[in-house]
Amino acid sequence: KPYIVIMAGGIGSRFWPYSRNHKPKQFLDVLGTGRTLLQSTYDRFRIIADPEQFLVVTSQGYFDLVSEQLPDLKPEQILTEPLRKNTAACIAYAVFRIHQLDPDASLVVTPADHLILQEQKFIDTIQKAVKASKSDKKLITIGIQPNRPETGYGYIQFHEKEEADGTKKVKTFTEKPNLKLAKTFLESGDFVWNSGMFVWKAKSLLHAFHKYLPDVAEVFEEGKNHFGKESEGDFINRAYTQVKNISIDYGIMEKSDKVYVILGDFGWSDLGSWLSLHELKEKDEYNNAVEANALLFETTNSYIKTDSDKLVVVQGLDNYLVNESENVLLICKLDGEEKFREFVAGAKKKG
Ligand code: GDD
Ligand code: MG
Repeated sequence: KPYIVIMAGGIGSRFWPYSRNHKPKQFLDVLGTGRTLLQSTYDRFRIIADPEQFLVVTSQGYFDLVSEQLPDLKPEQILTEPLRKNTAACIAYAVFRIHQLDPDASLVVTPADHLILQEQKFIDTIQKAVKASKSDKKLITIGIQPNRPETGYGYIQFHEKEEADGTKKVKTFTEKPNLKLAKTFLESGDFVWNSGMFVWKAKSLLHAFHKYLPDVAEVFEEGKNHFGKESEGDFINRAYTQVKNISIDYGIMEKSDKVYVILGDFGWSDLGSWLSLHELKEKDEYNNAVEANALLFETTNSYIKTDSDKLVVVQGLDNYLVNESENVLLICKLDGEEKFREFVAGAKKKG
């Protein structure tokens, strides 16, 4: 059985103000299912892994949220980071820990905030990847058929020929291309998106860290004497001041020639933005998603969401988000992603 490493240290700033620093989206019941995104991720993987096999990597400040939401986990299964250094450090921490227990163990690394509609198909795909990861040094990612020139994703080009284990060798991996390039990739029909879910053997990944991110490997290599001991926390505090800030995609996946893809088709969304959430929600006849005590007049393609029962009256909006969360009321274009980043960065300092 594989280890399941859940990355849950992001701050979900594209869902501000609903997602806040003190409670980012992975800890919220974004879909209204009664389970938070983190809990749904856990539930999904429980089908193939026992509670002891999970590790959650998150910020120190979110330790309590994780242990409340996943009461099956023991404290030592929640790895906490003193600083956010992106996914390479987060994955390195987990893999160095696991490698010490069992270098031949396979691990599945997954974000905490994805939506998957067809769980059985998803699990079948993951199991196929876990099996394939046993063979030498393969770094496996799950690829998704793209349907728009999204610039926030990684794009994968691969050899058509499928190997016996169901993987295809990756030719190129391009993280977050610009819009022009993303359009070219989409139109060529040759590329799939990187889902951000990875499967590899501890040994294979460690090897890749040593080769492509040697300075990161070096920092964590020293941890060997501390993992599982009382001094682990002190070591990690030191290590995180030294380790560089880079994602696994830029740091390893773009560079390695051992990258393979397994195509997945299980209804996937990374719930990246308000617009992506709007797409999933039930809409009225004018394509409005309403999660509020609201009266809408001449309003179309909008998303109205509040966390109180205050009556919201809206007239004449098209393609707008109205969100009241705690002490913030945000009204902005629903699809203005690039702008969103900019003004939210400024607004967060106040809200
Ligand atoms: N513990 C921890 N520490 N978790 C982190 C950190 C960190 O410093 N930074 C990010 N994460 C978590 C996020 O919470 C999320 O669950 C996951 O790691 C991925 O990080 P994102 O910041 O959401 O990455 P992205 O969406 O820009 O890009 C990745 O995912 C895309 C698909 O959703 C890449 O892998 C892309 O190639 C991919 O297409
Ligand atoms: Mg993401």
